[in-house]
Amino acid sequence: MIPSKKQYWHIEPDRGLLNDPNGLSWFHGLYYAFFQWNRFEKNHSHKEWGYCTSPDLTHWTFHGSALLPDQSYDAQGVYSGSALVIDDALHLFYTGNVKQDGQRRSSQCLAISTDGQHFLKTGPMFTTPDGYTEHFRDPKVFYAGGKYWMVIGAQQRTGKGAIVLFSSSDAQHWNLVGPLAQSEACQMIECPDLFLIDDTAVLLYCPQWRDNAHDLALHSFAAYKLTHFDTAAGTLDDRNLDDNQHLLDQGFDFYAPQTLQTPDGRRVILGWMSRMEDAQEAVFCQNEPRIHCLTMPRELFIKDGKLCQRPVRELSTLLGATVSPERSDSGLRFAPSHRYFRLMLEAPTGCSDLELSFGDGEWRFIYDAQQKVGTLTRRSWVQDGEETRSFALETCTALELWSDQSSIELFVNGGAHVLSARVFPTASQPDLRISGIDARTTVQVNELCMN
Ligand code: FRU
Repeated sequence: MIPSKKQYWHIEPDRGLLNDPNGLSWFHGLYYAFFQWNRFEKNHSHKEWGYCTSPDLTHWTFHGSALLPDQSYDAQGVYSGSALVIDDALHLFYTGNVKQDGQRRSSQCLAISTDGQHFLKTGPMFTTPDGYTEHFRDPKVFYAGGKYWMVIGAQQRTGKGAIVLFSSSDAQHWNLVGPLAQSEACQMIECPDLFLIDDTAVLLYCPQWRDNAHDLALHSFAAYKLTHFDTAAGTLDDRNLDDNQHLLDQGFDFYAPQTLQTPDGRRVILGWMSRMEDAQEAVFCQNEPRIHCLTMPRELFIKDGKLCQRPVRELSTLLGATVSPERSDSGLRFAPSHRYFRLMLEAPTGCSDLELSFGDGEWRFIYDAQQKVGTLTRRSWVQDGEETRSFALETCTALELWSDQSSIELFVNGGAHVLSARVFPTASQPDLRISGIDARTTVQVNELCMN
């Protein structure tokens, strides 16, 4: 029998389809994570905002729907957006999507809550300005330099992608500043986010390649660049989205991330843990009431000019019993009682060839010291065979792996590289084997436990 894919400690709804994280915020002593949700079916035919709250980014309570597509200006979807607390009220900024007779219309809308439970729509704030198509969405609002700013993902009339900037003194009446950054390569940008870590501006964005003639999305991924944002002029030092572009995640499943700032000033990111194609989705959610989840919350930081990620420290409250290894000539074998566990591996002088493998071929991570390449492989659940993701890795000194019932998130070298993947559990025992480590390498495995 195939085990359930229901996640143990990640955010996922009881039923339907989840996609982008929305409105991540801290309000009245709780973290809020809204998300794109189709509560009726496991497909993209309906979009509302579901939500859950947590006191600690670890234990989440699901509350159902916050915003429904029930107005003339959002009838075909309460699309993605963000949240900001202003004057003790939670402001939700989102794109109202309307599609009639094949024609799309987008407006940027506002809903306000004073209690975190009732969300009152105040209506559209503005529609798409000249120079852009109706692929104009996903407002992310922040405050800097004495004003409110909004970045929006867009498609220019030329058919190329852009991020557009607006400013406001009250977060309700917005002025177009202009294109903040543009692409010559892709046809659309989705889900931008812009924030500062110390003096560096971090721009997150999802370039998307489209067949403009047929209005079809073809390919996309989550990227970032590090630059400088001038809060007086509303300009970025580096306005070209195609150069100095880095992948946020080297794994299979990561898209449309969004960040929030914790009360103690940390910048935390969550992403949609999917990039699955239709055929993969269909097999993955067979006999399941739901599909897709969010990633774990991860803290962002900059090291050696690179954006790095580490699990938020609150997650350590999940750590349970230490699992003892069996040792053999070929290495170590751990048999945690569940698929949810955390592994820490430290090799201060660097690993030579290393292999970490799980279950009966469900997934493995290999470091090839000669080629200086890291590779994550998972068994394909659509056809016989495997899928791989490889990336350049000079040395491998540390691995931190967080596993759930049907996903893994792997942090390499203190979070300089991160790989997220949904995995398809099989009936095999959850057993984790490690080979290629030397006597100086330490490995610890802990079961995870929700209390
Ligand atoms: C990204 C996205 C957003 C849009 C939302 C609709 O995955 O396409 O651009 O607002 O999903 O669900």
